[in-house]
Amino acid sequence: MSVLSMIQKKHPPGPSGFGFNSSAEEVTEGVDLTGKTVLITGVNSGLGQETMRVLAKRGAHIIGLARELAKAEQACETLGSNATPIACELSDLDSVRAASGQVAALGKPIDILICNAGIMALPKLRQARGIELQFATNHLGHFLLVNGLVDSLADGARVVCLSSNAHFMAPEEGIQFDNLSGVRDYDGLKAYGQSKLANILFAKELTRRLQGNGVTANAVHPGVILTNLGRHMKITTMLSMATGILRQFKNVHQGAATTCYVAAHPSLQGVSGEYFADCNVDVPLPHANDVAMAQRLWRVSEELVGLDPTDPPYEAA
Ligand SMILES: NC(=O)c1ccc[n+]([C@@H]2O[C@H](COP(=O)([O-])OP(=O)(O)OC[C@H]3O[C@@H](n4cnc5c(N)ncnc54)[C@H](OP(=O)(O)O)[C@@H]3O)[C@@H](O)[C@H]2O)c1
Repeated sequence: MSVLSMIQKKHPPGPSGFGFNSSAEEVTEGVDLTGKTVLITGVNSGLGQETMRVLAKRGAHIIGLARELAKAEQACETLGSNATPIACELSDLDSVRAASGQVAALGKPIDILICNAGIMALPKLRQARGIELQFATNHLGHFLLVNGLVDSLADGARVVCLSSNAHFMAPEEGIQFDNLSGVRDYDGLKAYGQSKLANILFAKELTRRLQGNGVTANAVHPGVILTNLGRHMKITTMLSMATGILRQFKNVHQGAATTCYVAAHPSLQGVSGEYFADCNVDVPLPHANDVAMAQRLWRVSEELVGLDPTDPPYEAA
């Protein structure tokens, strides 16, 4: 047992029967993913790596994406022939298009698509194609990837978007459509919060657009876990984000639980457009339920990644 597990607060499980202390293995106990294909971004580190390990243990074939092929290969090697590595640098639209092309060419319908990769709280403004880098990576990269793979989704496929309760730190007005460059003012945590709000709005609007065809899309807050995500943050800032300090931290096995629960648990068949934390439905910031904001984000994202809104890969609802 780790030191963290010993000092960690014990929370009662929620209505799902799982909760804060549940691990990814526990929430997928008895789930058979044999013959299923799971695509995960960011498999070389932290939660993506653990999610990949556990879903592969349940029998799934993993398509493992990392920003460089060598990283994806190294991560996938741990699973032997049960994983296909693919390079995908999410802040580079050409790389994302190439990745979705390679995935589609595999000809394997995707049963579970997990938008996991992310960066947090860059201390100084950085941009990709003039867009603030956290928004570009965490939201736009995944937006383009998922849109590129809609035709490859299996009947009843599940899309899972890693958000964060840090979406409560988004700007007061929600998505700052007039400051997506970050140039007007920049705060690393606010920008992260905005990108994580975008992840929820994306799952909600995807739900609306895909309704009727059986595909679901949900967002999750995994908890607070010490991974490489904190590489840009001072440890004091990271600690202050977790009220109650260490007792509120999850280990990586618990950190991957909500993702794995939403991705694979049979009780969630058909559940879509929800926000989950600690393996239960939770209530996000009111902005996350703002349909007009979600639709505007979709239109602006289409423009920014160069998708033709008159040629959507699904029946627009
Ligand atoms: N850890 C937490 O406390 C926490 C809390 C709430 C939400 N989350 C969310 O959980 C997800 C996973 O985070 P984590 O904690 O596992 O962090 P992590 O250990 O830093 O892993 C992040 C992954 O994303 C990849 N990535 C970053 N930028 C990328 C890019 N431009 N293109 C492609 N891949 C990129 C990283 O690749 P490299 O290794 O090559 O950089 C890495 O594989 C993130 O979306 C994060 O926002 C985490």
